[in-house]
Amino acid sequence: MKEYTFKVTASGRINIIGEHIDYCGGKVMPAALSLKNTVYVRPNGTNSINLSWTTLPDKVTLDIDKLDSYKGLKYGNYQAGSALMWQRAGHKILGCDILMDCAVPFGSGLSSSAAIEVSTIAALAAIVGEEIAPVDIALKAQQAEREYAGVNCGIMDQYASACGKKDSVMLLDCNTLNCEYLPLQLGNYSLVITNCNKPHNLIESKYNERRAETEQALKILQGVLPVTCLAEVVPEQFEKYSHMLSQPIKRRAEHVVSECERVRLAVLALKSGNTKELGRLLNLSHASLRDNFEVTGSEPDALVEAAQSYSGCLGSRLMGGGFGGCTISIVKTDEVESFKAYVYEKYLSATGYKAEFYDADIADGITVEKV
Ligand code: GLA
Repeated sequence: MKEYTFKVTASGRINIIGEHIDYCGGKVMPAALSLKNTVYVRPNGTNSINLSWTTLPDKVTLDIDKLDSYKGLKYGNYQAGSALMWQRAGHKILGCDILMDCAVPFGSGLSSSAAIEVSTIAALAAIVGEEIAPVDIALKAQQAEREYAGVNCGIMDQYASACGKKDSVMLLDCNTLNCEYLPLQLGNYSLVITNCNKPHNLIESKYNERRAETEQALKILQGVLPVTCLAEVVPEQFEKYSHMLSQPIKRRAEHVVSECERVRLAVLALKSGNTKELGRLLNLSHASLRDNFEVTGSEPDALVEAAQSYSGCLGSRLMGGGFGGCTISIVKTDEVESFKAYVYEKYLSATGYKAEFYDADIADGITVEKV
């Protein structure tokens, strides 16, 4: 790749706990992965961004003056949206050639889209010589996802993709963007990431619908509670006032309030080395995503059930937006291989789908290297 000027990477992410609460002002616990989107970039002296991929035959040219006209592209829309938001924020965009090496599996719930958005903006900034705080890149990347890709997402994915740190999980307060980095110490246990490999569709509309439901719940509860976001409602308050909400809004809000509480307990568990308790909280999180937030589905549920029934597994749950994608499980380190074999068989016989396991470490978010 010597012919390029910079090699820029941004990460996929996992989320230990804190699902569907980032857009409610909650605290979440993601970490950046060594599964990354890598961008090789060089200025080309034209008014176009030429995109190509290591894994796709497609070639796409984006006119820098018409970046708002590429929403319908199958590949290249995230890049166009990110460049457009960056441009609208007043940054100079130079014509360039971009080669994308996407190692975050698409549609896996590991935030491949955030990794593409964040790495694209970081690459555009690198060739102009701008030094930008990763959080500012994350915010523009989130705007691209919301305004260009049409997913009314929170900040978790883009923040983790940009600002992650090797071997640390992040305790990100999505209300203030204050972030504490905690060492991921699980004793004799490891995290296992498993893809249920069920293709999901309509996820965008269902995601936006859930978010709207939490906003309705907030509006009603604000009639009696002085809160600015749903994450500020504590369980005792919710118990007192939940009768004001009708179903399914009540279940949605119950998920948010209880998940925020689980994150609070998970921080204590992680800090005190209580991995068993962390596993218990993961299991409760999945049950709430399934029963209250209703964003799981029969395949993710079957995968989580298979994992939870393995004796050396302390906890397992679905990650990300839901309706498919990856689970995270806490498994005894010296039993990881037998866990994989067990889960693979059990899930296959329950659903007919083949589970896929990813080996990844916790890594830094954005990296920029001169080639
Ligand atoms: C998607 C969104 C995030 C977050 C998760 C659910 O990954 O992009 O902002 O809402 O779903 O926790």
